[in-house]
Formats: sequence, structure tokens, C-alpha cells
Amino acid sequence: MEQTFVMIKPDGVKLGLIGTIIQRFEHKRLRLVRAEMMQLSLEQAKAHYLDLAHKPFFHDLLQFITSGEVMAMVWEGPNAVKAARCLIGATNPLESPSGTIRGDFALELDSNIIHGSDSVENAAREIQLYFPDYYAAKSVS
Ligand code: TYD
Repeated sequence: MEQTFVMIKPDGVKLGLIGTIIQRFEHKRLRLVRAEMMQLSLEQAKAHYLDLAHKPFFHDLLQFITSGEVMAMVWEGPNAVKAARCLIGATNPLESPSGTIRGDFALELDSNIIHGSDSVENAAREIQLYFPDYYAAKSVS
């Protein structure tokens, strides 16, 4: 069964959206496999967004994502990566339709509430980064 990594960013946590977001994923019939509140270190944030290191907004992104606790989660289901991205919406909340999480709860690109893996390969990489023990146990079973 496919798995994806989803993270409620510091703005989503501060706005009290954890319950609402989890409910949307459950209503979609995805299954919550792992969840943990955590404070990202700068090193973790850099490792997560490695591909964006050359972007002009990289520094601000690191500052934002380490500015408070996040809710890191693994969700499972058929086509979980794509299903989660559909629930989340477009990167820019202004281009994300109502009914999507970013379309409903965010206004600005640099604080868009939630992250979801964009491919099966990145999902595996991110699950390993945030839940190394779970990933290791899964790989041997
Ligand atoms: P990206 O991986 O392109 O988008 P997504 O989160 O939809 O997979 O970008 C990662 C995050 O970087 C994005 O969620 C918000 C932030 N970001 C900016 O702050 N400014 C920008 O111009 C872009 C493209 C992204």
C-alpha cells in the first residue's frame, strides 16, 4: 500500500488546524500510520528542502519551518501521494481552489499551512528523514 509524508507547518499548528486537517484526510479514507509533534532543527529543515537550496526564498523557508512545532505524519492508501496532494492543493494558496486545504485556510505562498510529498520517491525519503526507526523497521519486514 502506498504511503506519503504530510506535515502540518507551524502556521497550521498555531491556527489550531490539526484536527480539521486530520479529519479531511480520514474522510478521504486515507489511514494515519504515524504522527508526531516535533520542533525541526535547522539541519532537519535543510535536509528536507535540499532541492530548494538555490532558491531565493530558501533562507526564509528554513526560518519559517523552524519557527514552531510541526505535526509530522505518514498516511497510507491507494495512490496516497496523489490523493494527499489533491487534498492539499496548489503551492500558491491563491491558485488553490476552495475545498483544498491551502485554498480554504491560507493566503500566502510562504505560509501555506501544510506539506505533502510530491512523488513516491520523495515520500520514502521524507518518511526516512522524519521517522527513521519506523522506516528501518518497515524495510526489514
Ligand atoms: P515547493 O516544493 O515548490 O512546493 P510544495 O510545498 O507545494 O511541494 O516549495 C516548498 C515550499 O516553499 C512551499 O510550500 C512554500 C515555499 N515557497 C515559497 O516560500 N516561495 C516560493 O516562491 C515557492 C515556489 C515556494
